[in-house]
Parts: sequence; structure tokens; C-alpha cells
Amino acid sequence: MNRLRALSLALACMLTALLLTACDRQEVQTRTYTVGMEATFPPYEFYRGTEIVGIDVDILKEIGRRNQVQFKLEDMAFDSIITAVQTGKVDVVASGLTVTEDRRRQVNFTRSYAGAKQVIIVPEGSSVKGVDDLKKVRVGVQHGSSGDTYVTEHICEPERYTNGALAISAMNAGKVDAVVLDNAPAENHVAGSHGLIILPEAVVEEEYAMALRKGNDDLLTMLNLTLDEMEADGTLAAIIERHMRENTPETEQQADSMAGRLADDFRTDFVKNERWRYLADGLLVTVEIALAAALIGIALGFLIAVVRSTADLTGRLRVLDWFCRVYLTVVRGTPIVVQLLIIYFVIFGSVDISKVLVAMVAFGLNSAAYVAEIIRSGIMSVDRGQMEAGRSLGLSYGTTMRSVILPQAFKNVLPALGNEFIVLLKETSICGYIALQDLTKGGDIIRSQTYDAFLPLFAVAAIYLCMVMLLSHMLKKLELRLKKNER
Ligand code: ARG
Repeated sequence: MNRLRALSLALACMLTALLLTACDRQEVQTRTYTVGMEATFPPYEFYRGTEIVGIDVDILKEIGRRNQVQFKLEDMAFDSIITAVQTGKVDVVASGLTVTEDRRRQVNFTRSYAGAKQVIIVPEGSSVKGVDDLKKVRVGVQHGSSGDTYVTEHICEPERYTNGALAISAMNAGKVDAVVLDNAPAENHVAGSHGLIILPEAVVEEEYAMALRKGNDDLLTMLNLTLDEMEADGTLAAIIERHMRENTPETEQQADSMAGRLADDFRTDFVKNERWRYLADGLLVTVEIALAAALIGIALGFLIAVVRSTADLTGRLRVLDWFCRVYLTVVRGTPIVVQLLIIYFVIFGSVDISKVLVAMVAFGLNSAAYVAEIIRSGIMSVDRGQMEAGRSLGLSYGTTMRSVILPQAFKNVLPALGNEFIVLLKETSICGYIALQDLTKGGDIIRSQTYDAFLPLFAVAAIYLCMVMLLSHMLKKLELRLKKNER
């Protein structure tokens, strides 16, 4: 009795201490807001090395300094940026975001802090001389951008790319004839590539502002007041002016020979600014996610398979079996990208959870459905007599399953399971949808900085290929090993 009392007293003390330190922390810790942006938009937000820099970043830093709050930057796909702020995934969007009436219906805007316009980029000597000519050619835009909306509504059906830089590399590759993009990144991109010009006639004038969830009024007021202040004392203009001045990177001299050019491209794509790091870091993320997802998939898939086949073989576990079947139907009936987006934006919508974790769970849950059916088919393929033999030897159902059926089933399904892991590994390449920097996205970032589609894509493909070959090799070894044990 005494012991119990002492124990509960100690526990109570510990809890109070914990609570107190937690409260304490909250007081010292400055408030942190998350900011959504798509960071291939120089000079507003772009990568320098692995850090995101630019006008929006500096404005936020200054707002943070003046209000003693912090902003945590989240790089994400531009076409999900409005959803992100609506669902509370981020508190603010600061992404060279144009104020439009459509968007105003979904979110609140701060006052505008910069003017901009949509301009037309074409190859030198193009027949496109102005807005009217766009109707006759293929036009590239950034998906979900105000340029996209404008072109779609007033000019023609454009080709949509994940960001402006990719639209430009598509133009370099001859896939589109013109690109409509915001003027500041357009100037940067044109300075950074060869043989492109910006037409003097603009498509439409715009204003940039930050966006917030409707009803988030305290934060809105704070941002507006500080932006006013920064305009009045000249800080805002100074930040913009400084970045605009640095906005035109020098183009490098192009080599003449094919081999020389390839060597140059290799240098800019991978060596310069340590860009290979995007691939190396991305590879790590890809491997992490695939491994964790495979483990979740095996564990959960195995459970589901056992429930399903037990229900089939013995008629027990009917209710559980029903749930498993619903699960399989839903998971196998919907695309993994959609599942990933739902898990990220809806299920974990307002929770601040690591994206890597979200991806592990999403791919794990998805893979489980396929693994379950593979293992079940393995169990069902074992001769019925085996179960009967086990049972008549006096073994229980569970024991027969564990030591007679499952080992045989496993051997039968190994090739199919291996295949599932190969698919899983490659499937993680859609992580970019929730702005995870996996291997594929790493290649995309390089492409968006160098406008070279060729080498980064091949490098990414080669790395996946090596991983799959390694995996196949290991599976083959395992298969051989199991065969040897067959006696
Ligand atoms: N101003 C355009 C818009 O609001 C494009 C902005 C793109 N921003 C970016 N960070 N990628 O739709």
C-alpha cells in the first residue's frame, strides 16, 4: 500500500515537473509560423546550395525580426499551395503569389508588396512577336500559376509544367514555342540560358501578396502592419532592389564540340554548386522511405493475408475479413498519388508531421494491400492436404499454419514479393507531390536550375536502375538459398 502511494506521489511530481517545463518552454520559445512556397522562382525564392533564399525569404526574415516570431519555410508543389494554406498545412503562402479574384474566394491576401507582369519568352528569331501570335503556337506555363489561368482563359490551351524553369527547358528541347511566365524569374532564366529573349509586350500586369487562411486575422494584421512599416522606411524597396540587381546570372561560354558541351553540362549539372548533393540526399530519402514502407507493407500485408485465408479456410474471423476486403478494395482501387495527397493534406492536414513519415505510412499502407494478396495466393496455393495432414497429426490450426503452410507459401511467392518491392521503390518517385526531396525531385531541382533535361534525367534513371539491379540480385540469392534448403 505504502509502495503504491510512494509510486503515485513520484509520478505526480514527475508529471508536474514535465508540465511546468513545457509551459516554461512555451514562454521562451518564439512563435513559429510555417510558410509555403515553390522554390524555383528566382529572385523571389530559389535554392542556393541547399538553402532557400530570395526576396520573399528576406521579407519574411525582416517581418520575423520585427515581431519576434519565426517562419519555417516549406518548399512545395505550386499547384497545391492554395490547398496547403486552406487546410492549415501552412500558415502563410509567400511565393511570388499573384492576387487574383479566383484565389480571393479561397484565401485572404495581405496588402501587395511587389508589382509584376506575365511576359512571353521565345527563342531568338521566333515568329512570335506579341500576345496575338500566341494563339497559333504551343505555349508553356507553370501549372496552377496566374499565367496558366490567364493563357487558358484568354489565349489558348497551354502545356502545363511543374515550374517555369521546366517549361523553359521544354522550349529548349523544342516541345513548346513560347513560355508565359512572371517577368522577374523570366529575366533570370533568360540570362541563364542561351538564345532566348523576352518580348517587350507584356501579357498582363499583376500584384504579389501573401495569402492566409480565411479567419486567420491576427496574423493578417501583423503582416499588413509590418509590410506598411517596411514600405514606409524603405526596407521593402531595398530588399527587392538588391535581389533584382543580382538577378541575372552570367551565361557560361558554350563549348563547340559535342563532347566538350557534354563535359560542360556535366560540370554545371553535378559539380557546380555541389549540385550532386541533390541526388545524394534525394537517394537517401528514397531508400529510407522505400525500406520503411516495405517493412510496414510486409507486416500489415502478412496480417491481412492470414485473416483472409483463415476466413476462407475455416469460416472464422468473418468481421475482420470484411474490413480487410474493404481495405484492399479501396487501396487497390485508387491511385497512390491520390492516396499520398489525401494522407498528407486531409488525414494529417493540420498536424505538423514530418513528410518523410507521411510518405513511409502512405507507401506502407499501399504496399500492404498488394503484399496481402500475394501472400494469400501463396497460402492458397499450398495443397489442402497439408493442412489436413497437420491437423490429423494433432497440431492446432495456428501451428499448422505457422510451421507447415506459411514456409511453403513464402517460397512460392518470393518472386512476386520481390517484384512488389521493385515497384514500390520506383513508385516512391511521386514523393515530389508533397514536396519531398527524394531522388526524382533532386533531379528536378537540378533541371530547374540548369535547364538541362538530358543529364539529370539520365542520372536519376541510372541510379534507380542500379538499385533495382542490386535488389533483384539479392532476391535471386535468397531464392537459391531457399531452394538449397529444400533438401
Ligand atoms: N505569380 C504567379 C502566380 O501567382 C506565379 C507564381 C509562382 N511562384 C513560385 N514561387 N513558383 O500564379
